[in-house]
Amino acid sequence: MDITVVGSGIVGRTVAQGFTSHGHRVTLSSRSPEGHSEWSAETGITVHLPHGALRDADVVINATPGQASIEALTGAGLGEAGSIVVLDLSNPLDFSTGAPRLSTGVDESVGEAIQAAFPVARVVKTLNTVNAGIMTNPGSLSEPTAQFVCGNDEAAKETVVGLLTGVGWEADQIIDLGDLTAARQIERYLMLWLRLMGVLGTAEFNIRLVRS
Ligand SMILES: NC(=O)c1ccc[n+]([C@@H]2O[C@H](COP(=O)([O-])OP(=O)(O)OC[C@H]3O[C@@H](n4cnc5c(N)ncnc54)[C@H](OP(=O)(O)O)[C@@H]3O)[C@@H](O)[C@H]2O)c1
Repeated sequence: MDITVVGSGIVGRTVAQGFTSHGHRVTLSSRSPEGHSEWSAETGITVHLPHGALRDADVVINATPGQASIEALTGAGLGEAGSIVVLDLSNPLDFSTGAPRLSTGVDESVGEAIQAAFPVARVVKTLNTVNAGIMTNPGSLSEPTAQFVCGNDEAAKETVVGLLTGVGWEADQIIDLGDLTAARQIERYLMLWLRLMGVLGTAEFNIRLVRS
């Protein structure tokens, strides 16, 4: 699959390498590709300027801060990319006042905001509830753990679930929460995730769903 990752932070670079190592053709979109020339040479992953970055992509991964996502995806040409699948792993975390808080209200989410801004694109929210290193390497944890997905388009969700199982997420731990309004709950989980990280003293953890 041809994947373009938008955003060159730790998450963007980590998932770009992860999906590349599982056989996908991945490129990275960055406003400063020159800053990643060494990484690009090491990994073999091409880093482009945003303009035209989605031209050949089947899937775009949004790896930008939630508050900047619409601006970043606009710059990468999502508005001209038709019904492309958008794997949105962003969170609306706001650190501007010190302690992290969410920049969205309880009945809002970044996933829905992206869908509203790009109505033809097919947004699927997933992967935002785990640390970057776990996203494309869930096997780094000692047992299979839960991964949430939600979105309005069933075929797009199937595409994303295929990407997830391809990197090792186990099918019975991939929880389809339904339409994209579930992004509100998945994104709000981040406040609990941050609390857990503080208590556990590590970001390398996840929850597991156990049925009776
Ligand atoms: N850190 C984690 O382990 C983790 C886990 C789960 C979810 N997430 C979420 O994943 C996303 C990425 O996390 P990160 O830590 O990699 O974020 P980050 O370093 O803060 O930002 C990622 C990239 O987004 C691009 N960007 C930032 N502001 C932009 C703007 N106004 N317009 C266009 N592009 C902009 C920048 O790329 P360029 O300058 O190259 O364009 C930046 O390097 C966030 O939403 C975060 O909440 C993170």
